[in-house]
Order: sequence, then C-alpha cells, then structure tokens
Amino acid sequence: MKIAIDGTAASGKGTLSNLLSNELKLPRLDTGLLYRKLAFIYIKSVKLISTQNTIDNSVLKTILNDFDLNNLDPETLKQDLYGNFASRIGKLDFVRNKLKIIQIEFVESMTKKRGGCILDGRDIGTKILPNADFKFYVDAPLVIRAKRRFKQLYSNDKSIKFENIVVDLEKRDFNDKSRENSPLTLSKDSILLNTEFLKPSQVLKKALYYIKKNK
Ligand code: C5P
Repeated sequence: MKIAIDGTAASGKGTLSNLLSNELKLPRLDTGLLYRKLAFIYIKSVKLISTQNTIDNSVLKTILNDFDLNNLDPETLKQDLYGNFASRIGKLDFVRNKLKIIQIEFVESMTKKRGGCILDGRDIGTKILPNADFKFYVDAPLVIRAKRRFKQLYSNDKSIKFENIVVDLEKRDFNDKSRENSPLTLSKDSILLNTEFLKPSQVLKKALYYIKKNK
C-alpha cells in the first residue's frame, strides 16, 4: 500500500504520517527533510545566510551529485532557517528532478521489501506517487499552524517571535503553492483533512477510517 500525504507547513501532515506509519507498519519518508538537508549543506558550504538573494546553482548541483537520504536529522534540520531556504531551492527544476529520483528509489525499494510506504511533502500525490492507494491533504488556518510551530520551537529558542513565524509560514505557503514546477495543490482525488479542531489521534482515526472503508 502506498500513501501520499501533502499539505501546508506545520499543518500536522508529518504527525499524521508518523502515526500512520506506526499503525500500518509501513516505512515513512518525510520528503521535506530532503529539501531541508540540501538547504543545510548548501548554507554550510557557501557560508552565507539564507536571506541572500542569489543562489549559486553550480554549488547546488555539486552537492546533488553526491546526495542521498541518509542522515536526515530532524533535530538539526527543523530550524526555520532551513525550512525557508528549502522552499526557495524547491523552485528549481534540477533540484526537484534529482530529489524525485531519490524518492522513487525509496518507494520502489520499500514496496519490494515492506509492501509499501508513506511519503509526506508537497507534491507527493501529484508528482511522486500519482497512483498512490490513498492521498491525503492536511491543512489548518495559518494562525493555528503558527501557534503549533511556535510551541514546538519556543522550548529550544526563547527569542523566537510569534509574528515572525506567521510571516514565515505565509511566505512559505505562497512559494509552495505558486511555483511553476510541482506546486502544492489539493488534487481532486485527495481527501482533505482539516486539523484545526482535531488532536493528532483524531486525525489518525479519520485517516484510518477512510483507508479501511476504501481498501
Ligand atoms: O515539509 P517541510 O516544511 O519540512 O518542507 C520544507 C520545504 O521543502 C517546504 O516549504 C517546501 O518548499 C519544500 N518541499 C517541497 N516538496 C516536498 C517537500 C518539501 O517543495 N515534497
């Protein structure tokens, strides 16, 4: 069974993906971590801050030559610096093409070994797993998502500002929805899950209900 989960930033799609992975005993790939890892290596190698306007494509291409899905350390990569930069490099065709190859390899290998997998990101149901058995689109209002993200980040960084998180998430959603290549969209065959009033366990229950009903 292949499951595609897409959605806006901090909507709870990662949490749902994780819970479904435990419940259905299927391996999971958080594809955002691939974009974040690329952003992390790039920022480290050019030693500049991500607000700089130009991106050196040749540096990115060199990194991509030797890029894989090992060491996707969520602790390091969860900082908004990498999320925001990931959103900028996610617009580039050569970046998406290479990361697509890595994701498809994961899907093929896990389908052989484990009978399927769960991927979460922005273009999973539309580009990576267009034939997924189940597709979910997870969303919640911006302020709700910003509150969740603030709660997550504030425990480690007391200088974080709620207003900045709102602006960052809004900018990131805009980038993800408006880019030409593989934009985030709610496709016709996706199930929309609004997580605004739901606990993670309730979102899981809804997704499982749908899966069991349609299996
Ligand atoms: O999901 P997460 O917030 O970790 O993703 C970081 C950024 O990586 C997203 O804002 C998006 O621009 C990019 N991304 C993407 N396609 C994916 C996963 C993430 O463009 N499948």
